[in-house]
Amino acid sequence: MTKESTYTAKLPGPNGLYDYTPEEDAIWGELYERQMKLLANMACREYLDGVKTLGLRPDKVPQLLDVNRRLSETTGFGVEGVPALIPPSQFYELLSQRKFPLATFLRRREHIDYIEEPDLFHEVFGHCPLLTNQSYANFVRRFGETAVHLGKGYSWHLFRIFWFTVEFGLINTPEGRRSYGAGIVSSPSEAKAAMKGTECEFRPFDLMSVLRTPYRIDIVQPIYYVIDSFADLEAIIEQDIEGAILKAKSLGDFAPTFEAKAS
Ligand SMILES: [Fe+2]
Repeated sequence: MTKESTYTAKLPGPNGLYDYTPEEDAIWGELYERQMKLLANMACREYLDGVKTLGLRPDKVPQLLDVNRRLSETTGFGVEGVPALIPPSQFYELLSQRKFPLATFLRRREHIDYIEEPDLFHEVFGHCPLLTNQSYANFVRRFGETAVHLGKGYSWHLFRIFWFTVEFGLINTPEGRRSYGAGIVSSPSEAKAAMKGTECEFRPFDLMSVLRTPYRIDIVQPIYYVIDSFADLEAIIEQDIEGAILKAKSLGDFAPTFEAKAS
């Protein structure tokens, strides 16, 4: 959650359940229906299978307890509701423990099309379905472990791997290029832009290139990196990440393909 956020964290009751209002259920439902229509031919099969495995439905905001149970039954992963912005060290620590940290508030209607900070829809609908895929779940855990091991000095570059995979990754499939990144599958504008492909560039995933690519969080992405399989994704994080980051630092960043953010 950003410092300027007008949202407050939602806390669970003593039974571990979160209380969502009928309006929040309706907003979840609208977002769910709209994205599922868009994603039928845009998202990869593993993601769409994951939506079913988690039992996500349009009529109700899902409870984290249910998501947690279904995930742990499939890949041993879990989720943890976090009250607000958490420091990167805690974020990485949780991933290394096979727990995906989730913001638990849901966007209001005025932000139904776009919200900069991650809300529950982005977190659960965007991130959780693929955590039912073992290779993907292994990648996320190993990413967390690597980040914890390498520490702060590597965090900036390391997060680029996360950004261009978990958040904005695409994958080649027999049916064509499909989305798997949470920032794409949970956002109508990003999903449409990524599939239209006229104002962005698709590059084959290459660790060194990813480590040298700057990004902005508040624009439709101008560059996407495309993997060939989730087994490949799992292998990426087993490379010498420390050595690769040191090399990327010495080579320097690619020139940004976007305008600097006005302050
Ligand atoms: Fe995210």
